[in-house]
Amino acid sequence: MINVGIIGVDFIGAVHIEALRRLPGVNVKAIASSNLERAEQNAKNLAIDEFYGDWRQLLKDEAIDVVHIATPNNQHFDQVKAAIAAGKHVMCEKPLTMNSKEAKEVFDDAESKGIIHGVNFNIRFYPLMHQLKEMISKGELGRIHTVSGSYQQDWLLLETDYNWRLESAKSGDSRAVADIGSHWMDLAEFVSGQKIDEVCADFKTIHPVRKKPLKEVETYSGKMLQPEDYADVEIDTEDYASVLLNFENGAGGVFTVSQCAAGRKNRAYLEIHGTKKSIAWDSELCNQLWVGSRESMNSLLLRDASLMHSESHKTVDYPGGHNEGFPDTFKQLYKDFYKDVALGSKSDSSTYATFKDGIRELQLTERIVESNEKRGWLKI
Ligand SMILES: NC(=O)c1ccc[n+]([C@@H]2O[C@H](COP(=O)([O-])OP(=O)(O)OC[C@H]3O[C@@H](n4cnc5c(N)ncnc54)[C@H](O)[C@@H]3O)[C@@H](O)[C@H]2O)c1
Repeated sequence: MINVGIIGVDFIGAVHIEALRRLPGVNVKAIASSNLERAEQNAKNLAIDEFYGDWRQLLKDEAIDVVHIATPNNQHFDQVKAAIAAGKHVMCEKPLTMNSKEAKEVFDDAESKGIIHGVNFNIRFYPLMHQLKEMISKGELGRIHTVSGSYQQDWLLLETDYNWRLESAKSGDSRAVADIGSHWMDLAEFVSGQKIDEVCADFKTIHPVRKKPLKEVETYSGKMLQPEDYADVEIDTEDYASVLLNFENGAGGVFTVSQCAAGRKNRAYLEIHGTKKSIAWDSELCNQLWVGSRESMNSLLLRDASLMHSESHKTVDYPGGHNEGFPDTFKQLYKDFYKDVALGSKSDSSTYATFKDGIRELQLTERIVESNEKRGWLKI
């Protein structure tokens, strides 16, 4: 049995736990939250016996083999570093750290200790994204010349919407690009097999001042806050960004990210044009891939292993029509990662993002931030 400890168990930490519980041979042994009271409540909700109010205590448990980190971004560096020092394998949420220098440091630490390391870029693990990677590598789209798309959400549409991600000290110098653009860029590079080589970015902060609630709002309590219950807070990160791209093979592209797109709940969209065919994929309709042709009818490839390349089958657990969605991507990612944990080394066939990919995303984000400041193209 492989024992796992989870640090940070609100929104996404709970998703990690649910996915891990679907894997044979993996046991979620303990959790750590920001304080003991919260940890006890989280443990009760999630039916976990062992809980800590201080993550350093969790790392002292020698029976824990793997640590998942799902805390706000500014916590990742210290927690990853300490977990590696304690000899744990690490799966860390994105972004790996607050900057590429820190990411390089934890990558070097992990490699020198023989730690299995992963970054939680789960979107790769929608089965049709593994299928698309194979289609492109087999030349079915021809030479790729355009890669475009977006990642849009609406949960920060209102000036009263508030979260730790709006505070750059906790989140980092970029928000929309780092939070959701990083997923899009990881996906675009993963499926196309091409690296982004140049960027030119334009950011907008739709709400330069937001209203931060001064007290906890109970979800669905129906209680309205009064004007005096908010403080005005200046926002120094982007709600929206558009980024022009050039890839190393000469392909062009563009992506747009927004956290203020009314009605777009959590929509990653990717469109790739090649010299033979095009594809389009929408994460909110994740079980179908649109394939565009000029000389024949356009078609929809449905997620069904019997229609997909064998290399993508490892990400498919249910027959066609039995939809697999967001929580399944976590299960598929961990299936891949824990295979290596059990082996004790990274295998050539694994496709999860490692700390190396985590460095890459931070380097891209840093150049995008710089490009917006300098108002021009920058090489990666
Ligand atoms: N891969 C994805 O799809 C995805 C989705 C959402 C969030 N994320 C990433 O996951 C991380 C967490 O995001 P979230 O939305 O779950 O945030 P959240 O605010 O819902 O949860 C964070 C949790 O961390 C806890 N925490 C804070 N400091 C801590 C500490 N020192 N020790 C232990 N616990 C601590 C908080 O109490 C909270 O419970 C972020 O890095 C974010 O970028 C990834």
